[in-house]
Amino acid sequence: MSESQARHKQETAEFAVQFIQSGMTVGLGTGSTAIFATRHISELFRRGELRDIVAFATSRAVWQEAVRLGIPMLTEDMPQAIDVTIDGADEVDPKLNVIKGGGGALLREKIVAQASRREIIIVDESKLSPQLGTRWPVPVEVLPYGWQSQARFLESLDAEVTLRKTADGCEFYTDQGNIILDSRFGPIADLEGLAQKLASRAGIMEHGLFLNLADDVIVAGPGGIRHLQRGS
Ligand code: A5P
Repeated sequence: MSESQARHKQETAEFAVQFIQSGMTVGLGTGSTAIFATRHISELFRRGELRDIVAFATSRAVWQEAVRLGIPMLTEDMPQAIDVTIDGADEVDPKLNVIKGGGGALLREKIVAQASRREIIIVDESKLSPQLGTRWPVPVEVLPYGWQSQARFLESLDAEVTLRKTADGCEFYTDQGNIILDSRFGPIADLEGLAQKLASRAGIMEHGLFLNLADDVIVAGPGGIRHLQRGS
């Protein structure tokens, strides 16, 4: 990550944190952009500028980091609705549909997004795209049992499928013990149709198409910050 990209990630994250108020329940996103938001929330909490907040994490890694930073955390059964979630994305289209799951946390991220009153997506400009699928494969979380059958199913939908590996070449496992098939469809004309096909296939636990879930997208780039809102 270049220095300017890191700066943009921090800027978008800190801009988004202003929408969190004392007393709120907050969803903490996963990834190199969302971590800036988590750190900023913990700073404001330590300084007493945010009081009585409680947070819920979208991955085990973020849960551990948030606990280390001293943010009060909810238990894993999420006893209350979430007011605001701040999370990153891999690709964002003009209607604010997004692809997520580059960090492998898509299932928990979608559970949290659907439980949130307001889902704020934070990105640097490199994530903007005219059509989802143009720049990024759709991560598909699959049960290891019979996974090759899901790979063939995805190929039958014209995807180029890659089994996700860790940096040292081992199979990547999600927090749920599932695998990820990164599925390169190219520009996707019918997002709803594809999402439906993926959702109705046994063995596919979740996919990285987040349609109509982002309420706000905050974009940081060399020209400053843009705040996009769904439907406006
Ligand atoms: C995690 O599973 C993802 O959805 C991330 O939020 C997404 O990949 C964006 O990550 P970066 O902020 O690291 O680019």
